[in-house]
Formats: sequence, structure tokens, C-alpha cells
Amino acid sequence: MKPINVGLLGIGTVGGGTWEVLRRNAHEIQRRAGRAIGITRVADKALARARGIVGAKAKLTADAREVTRAKDIDIVIELIGGTGIARELVLDAIAHGKHVVTANKALLAHHGNEIFAAAQKKGVMVAFEAAVAGGVPIIKALREGLSANRIEWIAGIINGTSNFILSEMRDKGLDFATVLAEAQRLGYAEADPTFDVEGVDAAHKLTILSALAFGIPMQFKKAYTEGITRLTRADIAYAEELGYRIKLLGITKRTAKGIELRVHPTLVPARRLIANVEGVMNAILINGDAVGPTLYYGAGAGSLPTASAVVADLVDVTRLITADPGHRVPHLAFQPDQLSDTKVLPIGEVETSYYFRLRVLDRPGVLADITRILAQGSISIDAMVQKEPGAGQKQVDIVLLTHRALEKNVDAALKKIEKLRTVVGKVTRIRLEELL
Ligand code: HSE
Repeated sequence: MKPINVGLLGIGTVGGGTWEVLRRNAHEIQRRAGRAIGITRVADKALARARGIVGAKAKLTADAREVTRAKDIDIVIELIGGTGIARELVLDAIAHGKHVVTANKALLAHHGNEIFAAAQKKGVMVAFEAAVAGGVPIIKALREGLSANRIEWIAGIINGTSNFILSEMRDKGLDFATVLAEAQRLGYAEADPTFDVEGVDAAHKLTILSALAFGIPMQFKKAYTEGITRLTRADIAYAEELGYRIKLLGITKRTAKGIELRVHPTLVPARRLIANVEGVMNAILINGDAVGPTLYYGAGAGSLPTASAVVADLVDVTRLITADPGHRVPHLAFQPDQLSDTKVLPIGEVETSYYFRLRVLDRPGVLADITRILAQGSISIDAMVQKEPGAGQKQVDIVLLTHRALEKNVDAALKKIEKLRTVVGKVTRIRLEELL
């Protein structure tokens, strides 16, 4: 059979890994796909560096449109990143009848609906396994392996950088800024780490998972996003004493009122497997009504792990390239005319448990005032610890865990509590999930 010709846009870390995996495993890949798959054209602005990787084995250009429009190309891999030029090039490739493989989660979270509609119209595939959790085949699991299930919820550690920072803070008792600097030195965190540490990268990935789980359009703008920058060593240590770990989780859940879509630091029971995922690793817990909880773990980034997902997509597309477009796996797991308009809930409508840390004056009646306000907001206390004051100090930390409560009731109660004259400063609030 005629080999599949691939055009690669961007031969950086993941592109270089993709080149390497396709070369290294060419024979195995051909045995699986039924025909050879080779990168025959590469576009990259850094021509000399690209030449150093591909030699004379592929046609090199600095003009990506030479690749997206080349008659001899079957599949275009987009590894440029971002939502600007990458969007234009993906749409250009689709318009020219190319199948697309992309690792670009931001692009799909923001423009996925437009891109899938264009692909649908043109009868081409857009594959994106590498966009979520790098080498972990989570898209495949959710879209195909679990297709018998009504998915109930997903909770994932889907940003390795922030998981590395949280692991180091806990292990070494260091503060956020110190560990971030260390992560940057090791190359785990970008010079501008905003997307990773503010939860934006995780929210991009969660938006994709949520769409696949519930058959809804991509709705990144409705995701609630809170990062790890305000977490303190004290909260991590107090959580530990109570039997919990703090993880940055992406959570999406089906409820009677709508769909929850939220990324935030979360207390998780330390005995859960997912609570023990450390360093830059990723893990995603999916709960289906038939199968129950399933857990997927692996490298969420890096050259070869991400290339593993890109090349798996190339094999998938190759296998289906001659199939009738109506009989391929739908982009968002559900048939395009079966997407649902179930609403995504604002964070105020979310129900979860909470960890509160308050600094209070150590005198009679303080706790009574606090518990009265919580009771008025229908917020039930599950556990409470008062920390010993430091020598000569008149203020103490109180840590409270609650049962499930409505976030907007919690907002209102915390406002009232912060107004008490016996409460010093702001209350720290971290959500808590039992993940049962
Ligand atoms: N920056 C991401 C992370 C990897 O830290 O997990 C790419 O999505």
C-alpha cells in the first residue's frame, strides 16, 4: 500500500520526539498501521536546527503553508502551540483536505468547536491524544474504551508542573516561590509559569475531557480556574495531619443541576491512589456507571511520551483514512448531531466539602460565633482542630473540615466570619473531595 506522507509543523521538543519515534519504531508502526508512515515535509522557522534533525530525509521550509497545502501530504501534525497562527494553519490544512494531528490543548479548548465543524464538513479527522496528559492514552480510553458507560465524573492531575511544585512543598517543607524557582531551574516550569501554576493549562485539558465525557461542546470560558500560587506550607502540613494531600485537580462532574467544570487545589484523602501521584506525573480518575472508578497514570509531558501519543494518532488516522467519514470515531465521542446543551454550572452552584483555616483570638465565645454562622448557611462541620498558639501569642489557627455544602452559601458565610472582630484577616478556603 502507498505510504502515508506526513507534514510536520514545528520540530521542537515534541516534534523532535515524533521524528525519533517514527524512525525508531518504523517497522512496528508499519505492522500495526498496515502501511508505512513517514514525515516527508517539515516546516519550522529555525531552519538550521531543523536541518540538523531531519538531514536530507524530509523537505524543509520556513513557510508552514507549503506543508498544509502540499498535494503529496495526507496528514498534517500541528506542534506550534498557541491559539493564533496554529488555528489558521489547522483550518488551512483542513480546507486543503488534510487530516490533522495536534497536541494543542489551548487551541482545542478555545476553538475546538470551530475546528471540528470544519473537519466534519470536509470529511477529515482531527486527532488530539497528545493534547491531554501527554503519553497517557486518556482520549482513547474516554472516547472508545469507556463508551458503554454513562460517565459520572472525572478528577485529574493534568498539570505536571504544579504537581511537581506541590510534591516538593510537601516533601521538603518549602514555600511556593522557592519550589517554583527550583522547577524553573530544572526546566519543569516555563520562564512565564502562569498557565501552569494558575490552573489555565489544566482547565484547557479539563475542557476537552468534559466535552468527551458528557457529549457537550468545548466551553473553556465557563471553567472555574484557581491555581496553586496562594497555597502555604501551613495548609499543606495541616491537611497532612488530618489525613489529606493537596493536589491541583481538574474536576468535571454530572449533577442534577448541570455540569461542574472546575480546576482548583483540592484536599484528597491521602489513602487514595491519586493522592500519591508525585512529581511531574499525571493521573486521571474516571468514574463510569458500569465500570466504576478507573485510573490512568503516566508522563504528562516530555518529548518521547508526548510523541507516543502523536504517533498513536498517526496510526489511528492511517487505519481509518479509507473509512467512510460517517463511520469514524466522532471527534467528541458522541455523534455531532447528538451533542447536548446541558449547562455548565457557575462555581457558586457547585457542591463540595471544604477545608477552612482561620486565625482567631484565643478567647471564649469565638468558636460559638463561627459555628453559628456556618449553621445559618447550612454548612455542617465534619472535623475541627485548634492549633497550639506559639509562645506568648494570643492568636491561634483553627482548621475546620465541612461536609458537602453549596459554594455560594460558603461565600456568604465566610464573608460574615471575616467581619467578626475576633477573626484576624481572611479565611483560607480549599475545596475537599473524597473521590468516592
Ligand atoms: N505544561 C504542562 C504540564 C505540560 O506541566 O503538565 C504540557 O501540557
